[in-house]
Amino acid sequence: MTLKAAVLGNPIAQSKSPRMHNHWLSKLGIDGKYYAELVPLDGFYDTVQRLINEGFSGVNVTAPFKEEAYKIADDKSDLATQIGAANTLIFQNGKIIADNTDGYGFSQNILDQIPSWNTLGKHVILGAGGASRAIVAWLATSGAREIVIVNRSLDRAETLCNLGPQIRITSWENLSLELPDTTTLINTTSMGMNGQNNIEIDFSNAHKSLIVNDIVYSPLITKLLHDAKSVGFKTVGGLGMLLWQARPGFKAWFGVEPPLIDDELKGLMLK
Ligand code: ATR
Repeated sequence: MTLKAAVLGNPIAQSKSPRMHNHWLSKLGIDGKYYAELVPLDGFYDTVQRLINEGFSGVNVTAPFKEEAYKIADDKSDLATQIGAANTLIFQNGKIIADNTDGYGFSQNILDQIPSWNTLGKHVILGAGGASRAIVAWLATSGAREIVIVNRSLDRAETLCNLGPQIRITSWENLSLELPDTTTLINTTSMGMNGQNNIEIDFSNAHKSLIVNDIVYSPLITKLLHDAKSVGFKTVGGLGMLLWQARPGFKAWFGVEPPLIDDELKGLMLK
């Protein structure tokens, strides 16, 4: 029997998930297929029920359905519960199990490139949207000493503070004052994407071991990463987060650990 999974979103044509999963399926010689489904805005629940009836093993969920995916699940991981959103659903014996693997993807991506990195230090996060919430929840539950949020709209930043006692907010103006003892600076905003405004940061006060991570991967090297690297800081791009967040779902649906992330897959994702 062919194993089936899919990514659900609206829009969905931009999703690179089918490319990634189908690459792994063919590499491993698994009889499986990963689809992309454009879901009507009011049709998420019905689509999930149909896919369960058609024998799908599970789905990835992207905008704007991550909160709804969490709500309709029968069982939820602790992280998905904290975040209130799911990017991975597993269908098991007619039940829906929800997980959120964005924080895992974020963390593994940095570790993959900087094995000495850990979550224990102080982290400054730019942005307070869905991706930020997943990363902040991951860091807060993985022993981070301090988490500082910087966001354009204050009310959205405030909603993240309930994820842990070590979380606080600062302003863009005061951002550089945080950098002398910051371990990781992470951009989760859409700034720096092709066609969007860039982020300008004064790195002159930053600790010499600061790591700068941008979850934007189009372009692969954002201006933020370029600027940080040109003054000597280690940088990590965003493509790997996309690749790593996909791995737990693949394992759950197809029963096998996907192959390690290599240059062939990275090249395929950039086409
Ligand atoms: P995602 O799910 O990818 O995190 P999102 O929920 O739409 O996306 O969040 C986008 C983030 O980028 C938000 O933090 C947003 O700031 P606001 O909460 O103030 O809207 C931030 N963002 C987007 N464009 C921005 C801009 N031009 N300047 C500053 N912040 C911006």
